[in-house]
Amino acid sequence: MRMYDLIEKKKRGGVLNRQEIHEMVSGYVAGEIPDYQMSAMMMAVWFQGMNRQETADLTMEMACSGDTADLSSIEGIKVDKHSTGGVGDKTTLIIGPLVASLGVKMAKMSGRGLGHTGGTLDKLESIPGLTTVIPGDRFCRIVNEVGIAVIGQSGNMVPADKKLYALRDVTATVDSLPLIASSIMSKKLAAGSDAIVLDVKTGSGAFMKTLEDSVALAREMVAIGNGAGKKCCALITDMDVPLGNAIGNAMEVEEAVQTLRGQGPADLTEICLQLAANLLFLAGKGTIEQCGSMAEQAMREGRGVRVLADMVKAQGGDESCIYDTGKLARAPFRREVLAPSDGFIIHIDTEGCGIASAMLGAGRTKKEDSIDYGAGIFLHKKYGDAVRAGDVLAEFFASDERLFDQAEKRFLQSYVIGGLPSKARKLVYARVTEEGAVYF
Ligand code: URA
Repeated sequence: MRMYDLIEKKKRGGVLNRQEIHEMVSGYVAGEIPDYQMSAMMMAVWFQGMNRQETADLTMEMACSGDTADLSSIEGIKVDKHSTGGVGDKTTLIIGPLVASLGVKMAKMSGRGLGHTGGTLDKLESIPGLTTVIPGDRFCRIVNEVGIAVIGQSGNMVPADKKLYALRDVTATVDSLPLIASSIMSKKLAAGSDAIVLDVKTGSGAFMKTLEDSVALAREMVAIGNGAGKKCCALITDMDVPLGNAIGNAMEVEEAVQTLRGQGPADLTEICLQLAANLLFLAGKGTIEQCGSMAEQAMREGRGVRVLADMVKAQGGDESCIYDTGKLARAPFRREVLAPSDGFIIHIDTEGCGIASAMLGAGRTKKEDSIDYGAGIFLHKKYGDAVRAGDVLAEFFASDERLFDQAEKRFLQSYVIGGLPSKARKLVYARVTEEGAVYF
């Protein structure tokens, strides 16, 4: 096989077979295929696409390109949940402990935030002492004892995705359905769980800006998961507005704890309950309605709080921060951002809110950047709310007052105040299973 011939074939809309995909992926990981040829291939895929079989083959080849997790010492069915990323998305910190409190185990490998989106590892590491670097045997022991543990991906897991994602990031080829589907699902398959619920975001803060594209991505990923022998479904959820009110690491942990106590913001609570119901359903705990009621009751009783605290302790963190969230980091300087005019919030550019939070120190623009765990934004007004000029739209927290002006400018560009909002928002748009999509 010559890489040149494969690029030529894909450029003309040809279909790559498993052997060709195998040689391409293994050759690239081994350093035998240079970045410039793989860049050309990624661009050819961007224009020509891949059929479902090609996407599945690419996923399997990527999943097996390095180490895979061995979860065999964990008893019972292991569930996983993946979000395609967003702003204020702290759902893992809520859903994991919630389903674990109902006897369903989650052995979770999470990522870090980059750009406008946050990452679960950063949020957890805002808890003093907590580590997300844990050897495999201890990780499995914690999952067996507590019901949940969250770690980062080990060094040599899915190296094909690490290389390809970095290449796509600088060659304008991230936004390709088969490339996103194979990137996400290769990591899910390597992580070794039995059942996977995908939270595919749609809207201004998501990779997929339209419902149609989000459903197409979800269908592809669910088909790959099922084809690999996993139980898999997806919810299409809203990311046209930040999720919950807190954006920023320690602030999001605090909001997650409030939600686990049944006192969280309505949008976050609703999405978490639906995701949890689907995880419990895939784990065989009952019908989707029964699972929904179980999740609601567990949240009302605050059962997940103790599980989260136990997980924090098992991972070396100070669990008293979960019982008393006032102990979590909070940046010393505060600014109120005020509404410039009267009206209703008719649009929020969610990505812009994430960028403003990162500008306060809560996120990174480069992988090497450090994070200020106590920095971030607390939203007081969201889509559809009425405001008068001078009302507080949001509170900013930072460790350096000089960061406020630029972040405020970016934030205010993201809020559009106008006449009555045109549409009622939905939180969950559709559920996608191997049978197809059901719209709500
Ligand atoms: N998240 C991933 O892990 N990969 C993509 O390609 C896009 C989002």
